[in-house]
Amino acid sequence: MNRDTGIARRTETLTSTELETCGVCHSRKAIAKNPLPGEPYLDGYLPALLEAGFYQADGQIEGEVYEYGSVLQSRMHAAGVTCSNCHEPRSAKLRAEGNALCTQCHLSVSFDVREHQHHEPCGTGAQCVNCHMPTKTYMVVDERRDQACDLSVSPSTPAPPCKAASPAVRPAKKGSA
Ligand code: HEC
Ligand code: HEC
Ligand code: HEC
Ligand code: HEC
Repeated sequence: MNRDTGIARRTETLTSTELETCGVCHSRKAIAKNPLPGEPYLDGYLPALLEAGFYQADGQIEGEVYEYGSVLQSRMHAAGVTCSNCHEPRSAKLRAEGNALCTQCHLSVSFDVREHQHHEPCGTGAQCVNCHMPTKTYMVVDERRDQACDLSVSPSTPAPPCKAASPAVRPAKKGSA
């Protein structure tokens, strides 16, 4: 844990195998050839690039691009954060609820505080994901969060009133393990 920034650091380098394994299904791509199991993702697939229609100019999701590309773009990925840091890989459940998911690595005393969020800790306005993982709705019904944890909220954006904030974490879908 870096006490100055309040952000944890990975101590060993990350091999990209896991991200590529999840990315085979959770990315928008063209198939160049059918790769053999264990071959690198990019040997078989051509992931969608940052093109209009797929992503917005600042890299936020626009078309149905799923999660892999957004994670690749993020500073968190550059620092070695991977899917299973947030998702338990077998059940696909989140590792923790609400802000506790993020405060695994971002010190709560630095980030889960009014000075950072410009919010009273009321309702859902102070949820990390509401500012850092904006949602976009696909096929009318499927509201999906951007996986890049970007800073699309500018510091000058007025905080939404507590009542108007949208639910931070949707209730679990029926039947999900
Ligand atoms: C063989 C294809 C495949 C692979 C590999 C795969 N997934 Fe999935 N995953 C799916 C499908 C299909 C769904 C259902 C999509 C939906 O409900 O929109 C899904 C759903 C999910 C969900 C949402 C679950 C929910 O309850 O809404 C998460 C989170 C997820 N996967 C994470 C992962 C992670 C992390 C990995 C890598 C460890 C991974 N997946 C690997 C196919 C795959
Ligand atoms: C920093 C934490 C974090 C990382 C890293 C992360 N996710 Fe997520 N993911 C979330 C959160 C938070 C949600 C929203 C959950 C909700 O709304 O219930 C989510 C939602 C999802 C969903 C459900 C999308 C839908 O249809 O609603 C899938 C699938 C998914 N993630 C896959 C992945 C994959 C694959 C990776 C790696 C390439 C990844 N995630 C990396 C935090 C993360
Ligand atoms: C496994 C550890 C880990 C988890 C869990 C985690 N982060 Fe991070 N996060 C990091 C690291 C490491 C960095 C990169 C810091 C750097 O580059 O100095 C980072 C960077 C960020 C940034 C800065 C991104 C930018 O482009 O400037 C934001 C915002 C962020 N995280 C939000 C979140 C949110 C929201 C969650 C929960 C959904 C979360 N993080 C969960 C480790 C984590
Ligand atoms: C009301 C909106 C809002 C909420 C809620 C929020 N943030 Fe932020 N966050 C911002 C803004 C705006 C910035 C960029 C300006 C700044 O650093 O103050 C930022 C910056 C960051 C950064 C980058 C810091 C760096 O060193 O570059 C991280 C990491 C981060 N937030 C994590 C979190 C975590 C973790 C939570 C939840 C505990 C959270 N944020 C809740 C708005 C928010």
